Amino acid sequence: MVEEMKQHLRTKWLGNTIVYETCMDSTNAVAKRVGRENVTNGTVVITKKQTAGRGRRGRNWISPEGNCYFSMLLRPNMQVSNASQITLVVAMALVKAVEQISDLKPQIKWPNDVVIDGKKLCGILTESSIGEYGLDYVIVGVGVNVNQRDFDEEIKNMATSIVVQCGREMDCPQLIATFLNHFEMLLETFLETEDMSVLKTEYNNLLVNREKEVRILDREERIGMALGINEKGELLVRTDGDIIETIVSGEVSVRGLYGYV
Ligand code: BTN
Repeated sequence: MVEEMKQHLRTKWLGNTIVYETCMDSTNAVAKRVGRENVTNGTVVITKKQTAGRGRRGRNWISPEGNCYFSMLLRPNMQVSNASQITLVVAMALVKAVEQISDLKPQIKWPNDVVIDGKKLCGILTESSIGEYGLDYVIVGVGVNVNQRDFDEEIKNMATSIVVQCGREMDCPQLIATFLNHFEMLLETFLETEDMSVLKTEYNNLLVNREKEVRILDREERIGMALGINEKGELLVRTDGDIIETIVSGEVSVRGLYGYV
């Protein structure tokens, strides 16, 4: 796994240290343990399967062998408040990596799900640790459904994989290395301004929600037209009476995606 990955790796610093084991509880949990030990920026933790994979909002991430599971330990010198935007950059790099190794054209469901054919292909779980002097480290965990053909009943209508979409099995080490190559470059661009100002147009071109009706689920549910992100990574939505709302967080549902009707 590691040797094969290194053959495809063209990064300067990301992935210089790789922690690999065939099975882990969760690569995010392992990255957090090594993060406390002052491990260098850009360490990547990889496994073939997870026994306690974690998703967002306390959900599980079912992690059988055949897919990609990895976490990056980053120590960016930046404001704590801007760190959540890193997830958007990760989503962009994932789209580029999948496009490069297959003929698929995934898109991004704001803020950071990578989707294809209305179903989720990749999930990203970002966890920040804040210390006395600000941001200590950020752990970005990525799960990509690669060679999984069957999904559990509960997620069957919402999840897909590369093999289901293109009929060909893919090589996880190559996909991870290709992702790291793209992510290192995009992250460096992002860190110059600590926002999405330079990457915004490219991100918006990949957005599945763009010009689509979205359902905003926060204080009170409403429907609007998603216009794209602004430089802070917030979603701009035109709602009733031509008001442009800025959505910072909270769920935004897209018609037709994940079974929403
Ligand atoms: C989501 O809910 O969409 C996020 C899923 C993130 C899953 C990945 S798999 C590798 C890393 N380790 C974990 O336990 N979770 C993330």
